[in-house]
Amino acid sequence: MIKNLNYIDEAIYLKEKSLFFNESWILVAHKNELLNNNDFVALDYFGNKIFVQNYNGTIKSFQNVCLHRFNTIHEEPFGNRVSSCLYHNWTYGKKGNVVGLMCRNSFEKDHISELRLKEYEVDFCGDFVFIKLNEQTDKKLSDYLGNIFSPLEEISKHFGDKTIDYTIEHKVNWKLLVENVLECYHCTSVHENSFAKMGFGSVAPEKFDFFDAHSWCEFPKGESAKPSKIIEKALADRTLKIQGYLHFYIYPNAFISSVEGKGFYFGFMFPESPSKTNLRVRYFAPKFEKELNESQQNIIDFINNSSNDSLDLVLNEDKKIVENIQTNLVNFKDSSPIFGDEEFRILKFYEYFNKKELKDI
Ligand code: FES
Ligand SMILES: [Fe+2]
Repeated sequence: MIKNLNYIDEAIYLKEKSLFFNESWILVAHKNELLNNNDFVALDYFGNKIFVQNYNGTIKSFQNVCLHRFNTIHEEPFGNRVSSCLYHNWTYGKKGNVVGLMCRNSFEKDHISELRLKEYEVDFCGDFVFIKLNEQTDKKLSDYLGNIFSPLEEISKHFGDKTIDYTIEHKVNWKLLVENVLECYHCTSVHENSFAKMGFGSVAPEKFDFFDAHSWCEFPKGESAKPSKIIEKALADRTLKIQGYLHFYIYPNAFISSVEGKGFYFGFMFPESPSKTNLRVRYFAPKFEKELNESQQNIIDFINNSSNDSLDLVLNEDKKIVENIQTNLVNFKDSSPIFGDEEFRILKFYEYFNKKELKDI
């Protein structure tokens, strides 16, 4: 049984951090973010700055710190530019080697040609891009994801273009964010005017699966406000047509979800301290069977904008609650939260995580 102390204690937080590094493959990007030569996505993972980048069609991942005098190479979280450091323009190639620098003759040539950025192994689950943090482990990505691999691979193929990418700070322990997204028991109360209106939260899920701490679940749609005919027609040719709200948790950091295949959310947590976690929020448009004409595209742009607004609303509704909880825990250190049947994915997560914690630490 997890104690509230586990959400606030510094020593426990540090142990959890080492757990993440010991085993993990992490889901860092979707291929649609890296389609063109020099597209990149950067992240700061517990102080480790890392980027993934398209080098003429090959996706590679390296430390995001220059070997000259340690400036950050890519300062933006995503973009399109060669991997060159903006301090003195050292430029890195697909092997992490220095391929361009000013005044090359002023440096010892052999030394420069031996330099390599630390590289992270990249692998794919469908169109999702994973990197391996722990080079000591030889666990393959397919073994890491187990039976979650194929449903995750399937959903990845329906992502369209990325429409938003921003980060929201949460004054909470990372586990509160995990717990919050693993159940829809709170949907009818917290998301009364957003999610519940769309018809989610009132019917218990029937389809779900687990592997280690990973899980997916489809929440069926109940009664909802009548969908707009124009919107339904505009989305009729999307490639993924599901009835419900599909949600994946990919341990330790990633959340993937979709409401009826009408768009795709990709959340990624960056724990910063026992009581602070940044959530990077990305949203992707749906993919369509045929190319859209201009007027269809205009309607889809409108739908994407309103999906982004709804997502923002839902995230802020959750943020308010979980931040509230975090402030209360210090006074109830030895108490524990109570999880019921509707919160079964949380129980499964802790079943795995607590065992791991005991074994590895
Ligand atoms: S620190 Fe990067 S080029 Fe000098
Ligand atoms: Fe929520």
